[in-house]
Amino acid sequence: MKAKQLIGSLIAASLIISSVYAVNTDVDETQLGLRKVDIYTEDTAVPNGTNYHTEAPGTSKRFDRAYTNAPPMIPHDISDLGEIDKNNNACIGCHMPDVAKSMGATPIPKSHLTNMRPAVSVDNDDNLKAESDDKIIKKDLHGQLWQGRYNCTACHAPQTTGALNVANTFKPSYTDKKGQKHKNKSYLLDELDIGVQVGNGL
Ligand code: HEC
Ligand code: HEC
Repeated sequence: MKAKQLIGSLIAASLIISSVYAVNTDVDETQLGLRKVDIYTEDTAVPNGTNYHTEAPGTSKRFDRAYTNAPPMIPHDISDLGEIDKNNNACIGCHMPDVAKSMGATPIPKSHLTNMRPAVSVDNDDNLKAESDDKIIKKDLHGQLWQGRYNCTACHAPQTTGALNVANTFKPSYTDKKGQKHKNKSYLLDELDIGVQVGNGL
């Protein structure tokens, strides 16, 4: 009898405690996402917008590189430069090393004027076959752009500004102290072989 009474009062006590400390676990649907809209109509929610920099080439400010030998972000407007294809490329009109200085543009680096891809042939079934045993090559194209790099915007992108719901806390980091060397310039070709046993053909 005593045991039953004890259990009874324990249950009663726990009911009182849980009603006092009850936490409302319901989460409103509009609170589920960062956009704070109801998830059934979120396709009508408009994002903050993508605001590319509008400064013309020659009037923009270069960004620090994100890390050692990162492809620099494009600081200027590129919306009027048309599509890039292998025969038309407005970027090289200002960035090829022979013209860049007079345009105030950063010259395309030596890594882009070098073929680093061992030769391959394609058979009738579209299979690639190595033409040589070279694993690594570094063929200087003597000032010519290597066509594997013609599509500049595959790697270089313009930056946008926007009201971010989650702040970007990324901090650049460089292999040299404080990044004096790597913040504004790439040294990829000089540093490519660090830690690599250089074989034949280099
Ligand atoms: C009319 C000349 C011109 C054209 C065309 C042009 N640029 Fe530029 N670019 C510049 C100049 C000048 C700068 C240096 C920043 C400035 O003064 O605005 C620059 C800076 C850059 C940078 C930053 C380099 C660094 O050191 O941080 C990148 C990347 C770049 N351009 C890529 C491109 C790409 C990709 C295209 C083609 C879609 C292009 N540019 C077309 C003139 C040009
Ligand atoms: C496959 C990716 C890729 C493509 C395509 C590419 N780049 Fe780059 N670019 C890079 C990387 C990575 C770097 C930094 C390391 C280096 O120097 O290669 C760079 C560096 C640069 C720099 C900075 C040079 C310096 O001295 O600091 C310029 C300017 C540049 N690229 C312009 C261009 C232009 C113009 C094109 C198109 C003709 C182009 N790139 C195509 C990846 C690319």
